[in-house]
Amino acid sequence: MSRSPSGLSTAQRDLLHLMDVRVWKRRPPEEPAAHAEPPPLAPPAISGGFSAHAESAERSAPPAAAPSASPPSPPASPLAAAAGPPELEALKSTVAACTACPLHSGRRQTVFGVGNPNAEWMFVGEGPGEEEDRRGEPFVGRAGKLLDNMLRAMELDRATVYIANIVKCRPPGNRNPSPEEAAACIPYLHRQIELIGPRLIVALGAVAAQRLLDTDQPVGALRGALRRSAALDRPVLATYHPAYLLRSPGQKRKAWDDLQLAMREMEALRAGGG
Ligand code: URA
Ligand code: SF4
Repeated sequence: MSRSPSGLSTAQRDLLHLMDVRVWKRRPPEEPAAHAEPPPLAPPAISGGFSAHAESAERSAPPAAAPSASPPSPPASPLAAAAGPPELEALKSTVAACTACPLHSGRRQTVFGVGNPNAEWMFVGEGPGEEEDRRGEPFVGRAGKLLDNMLRAMELDRATVYIANIVKCRPPGNRNPSPEEAAACIPYLHRQIELIGPRLIVALGAVAAQRLLDTDQPVGALRGALRRSAALDRPVLATYHPAYLLRSPGQKRKAWDDLQLAMREMEALRAGGG
């Protein structure tokens, strides 16, 4: 992998750029060489970054579908359609037919999850938005682009990790899923986690963090440290939701700190066989 003089990989530098987290540049070579190690990362100077016009795109409500005609079935994305192990496929089929909560009535299709069925890393969001509902794949809208950049900086991608949501059907108007809806759907996620067996789960945003850790504490209080889900018997790292980071770019640095913490934990888990 290519490393820059600062010790950061190209992908990490990309992320810091894309997340608008600035790093110190090394002195140009013509200046006297300093033998002291340069600071690998700048103090967290963060530019304004993503501008306000981007803010509401991810979660803005489109008009409701015409009630008379059923919407044409959009093609599922190739990644979302990829076959997995039989038990995961069977669970996916069960979810596709689920009517256990009111969210089923507004969906175009269920959004089960994508990625490596043996992933070490699992990323969990709250629920599908408009674009996800259309494509059948989680995190494919604007927030998904930022998530892709976050993954890239961790030297991961969509095919090596597994990405899913607390609820599999889109909440109308992109509101948060209610506690009842989350409770109705979460057994599917628990089973997914059991089948995939990730070493570590990254909870993206308050809904995922609260439901996975079974608490009502705000994400700001849950992030910044590894937690453990007793029910899932594995570590959970809570951080900000990418859609929130698009609205509040000043928090990106904290999210990056969280991801670095998760990467260190993953190294420790691998070393310990966890
Ligand atoms: N936000 C989420 O929480 N999940 C998605 O799949 C997309 C946006
Ligand atoms: Fe079923 Fe979950 Fe969809 Fe509710 S959100 S209908 S529980 S799959």
